[in-house]
Amino acid sequence: MESTMPDFREVPFDARLERVLFGPEEIADRIREMGTSITRDFGGQPLTVVTILQGGALFMADLIREIRLPLKTATVSVASYQGTESSGKVNFLEKSLPELDGRHILLLDDILDSGRTLNAIRRRFFEDSRPLSIRTAVLLSKRIERVEPIEPDYVGFEVGDEFVVGYGLDYNGEYRNLPLIGTLRREFIR
Ligand code: IMP
Ligand code: MG
Repeated sequence: MESTMPDFREVPFDARLERVLFGPEEIADRIREMGTSITRDFGGQPLTVVTILQGGALFMADLIREIRLPLKTATVSVASYQGTESSGKVNFLEKSLPELDGRHILLLDDILDSGRTLNAIRRRFFEDSRPLSIRTAVLLSKRIERVEPIEPDYVGFEVGDEFVVGYGLDYNGEYRNLPLIGTLRREFIR
């Protein structure tokens, strides 16, 4: 069957979008590049890719298929956002951590904002487990001053200080299924 994927830059997925920042092909190309770098950097090491749910689910699914290494996957669930505002507190939603002992960890998230989430998880991993190392990869990084300093090892794209949705990123639980990353029109943000 022929693919009839429309160009989402010309035809917005839905009228609630203000602006498309990155379309499906741009995202796929960038993730392929990230996978190539990761394959090179982690060659021959015991790698576990851990993603932060729910936002990082799509990123992990696409990224691991661009990494040409034997690896394991794991997930962690945290919650910090309500609407478009970070609550400032990172809550772990499960009692136990994945098995990380003796492994190099690549911790993924959809977007780096204040830095609290990645820092809290990294801290917890080192406190409660014995990983060989923890590196971090984010699909998006907001160009803002971090509340908690962190320099991710891999960054897909930089964005400004605006609230974005799509490709895993939500607004009140919706829009994760958009195959692109964009901003919402003001009237759809309450
Ligand atoms: P941080 O802890 O402030 O760095 O925030 C990271 C988390 O906040 C991410 O895992 C996202 O779930 C969420 N987040 C931050 N900015 C956005 C955004 O623009 N859209 C959707 N979610 C966001
Ligand atoms: Mg998140």
